[in-house]
Amino acid sequence: MNRGQFSSKFGFIMAATGAAVGLGNIWGFPTQVASNGGAAFVFAYLVLAFFLAYPALMAELIVGRYARANAVKALPMLTDSPALKLGGKLVGIAGLITVAVILSFYAIVAGWMFAYALAPLLKLVGLEQYAHWLTDFGVVRNLIFTSLFMIATILIICGGVSAGIERWSKRLMPTLVLILLLLIGYMLTLPGAMEGLKVYLVPDFSLLLDSSLLVSALGQAFFSLSLGVGCMLIYGSYMSSDENIVRVGAWVTLIDVGLAFVAGLLIIPAMYVAQHYGVEIFDKSGVLLKEDTLIFTVLPSLFEQMGEIGVFVGMAFFLLMSLAALTSSISLLEVPVSYVIESEKLDRNKASWLIGSAITGLSFILIFNFDQLFGLVIAITTRYSQPLLGLFFCLYAGWVWQRNKALSEIKKGNEHAEYGIFWKIWPVYVRFVCPVFILAMFFHAL
Ligand code: PFF
Repeated sequence: MNRGQFSSKFGFIMAATGAAVGLGNIWGFPTQVASNGGAAFVFAYLVLAFFLAYPALMAELIVGRYARANAVKALPMLTDSPALKLGGKLVGIAGLITVAVILSFYAIVAGWMFAYALAPLLKLVGLEQYAHWLTDFGVVRNLIFTSLFMIATILIICGGVSAGIERWSKRLMPTLVLILLLLIGYMLTLPGAMEGLKVYLVPDFSLLLDSSLLVSALGQAFFSLSLGVGCMLIYGSYMSSDENIVRVGAWVTLIDVGLAFVAGLLIIPAMYVAQHYGVEIFDKSGVLLKEDTLIFTVLPSLFEQMGEIGVFVGMAFFLLMSLAALTSSISLLEVPVSYVIESEKLDRNKASWLIGSAITGLSFILIFNFDQLFGLVIAITTRYSQPLLGLFFCLYAGWVWQRNKALSEIKKGNEHAEYGIFWKIWPVYVRFVCPVFILAMFFHAL
């Protein structure tokens, strides 16, 4: 069967960074920074991303390219032991379930971004009432915009690896970077921005002793790099054997972390600009307003204060969010779709619509039971499921898989890999360092 492959190194990097860079970078990271001690969190995040998340990312990419299969098939291929084969299969299946649940809440949030991007346009043409409908929290709006977003995701995935994922990532990612840079350039000229910049860049290192800060930073790094659910594994499986996988993986990490950092340069100063304009950013106890209030209340009221230009800035901002979400949601949907194609022999179109609709159904359940389920589902999947599954991927790559097989996979496209620094460090990392740290953080989170 023709599995599809990314056509170039650039194509792979755009697709994989598209998967990685999403709401987690532009929304999640800056809001976590805002509520977890500013620059200290940034520092912890950078360290954990490079030292723990990068090796875990490499485990998925290397295993994926070796197996050329989805996680449910790939992990069992690493061993001859029936028990370990079964274990690998179960980890893969748990990843499939996790990814479906992540997409179900991700699509809801992405739908909000879509709606908020349209709202200023309607206001501009005098349709105030409809604009309010778009930005007011309502079940019907949520159902409609979640569905629209899922349809866009499904259509891209129907196109397959190079004509769908790669083509769209190559278009959307550069657009996203451009909008982000333009917005930062503008925001930094506004009064109050410099104060925000200081909070963002000058760390109070004493805060690093706070272990809940570290747990949040690790969870954020895993979510941001799309780890633990077989997403990077499946992207690795579409990578050509001619590429230097170590280097390409490093690029993906650098770009993902870099863009989270750059997004912070927009959001944190924007908060302080908003404060300057008289918008409340701290609650009564002096704690920063966080998560949804920040993006959906503070920033829109900042855009409103800006007058005419605010309409365009607001639109650009939420368009940025929608694009970032789309390149990630396609990677989320690709995980179960590739499984159904490979294991159930369904064709791509059918598989995409079938799985896409089922996940939209899951989103509807969340929408109808929002207060009880939404936060809970996010916490279970991102705080517990992802790091724990990431741990198993590391254990399979480090302990179950024969070292020489891993090495010969890395050597494809990188002949002298065994003498390089990566091979000196990585095996130890996936065997000991990553598992121990992930476990420690996991128990702390419990
Ligand atoms: N990395 C994406 C983000 O930061 O928004 C979210 C994500 C995508 C998580 C794909 C997991 C995944 F498999």
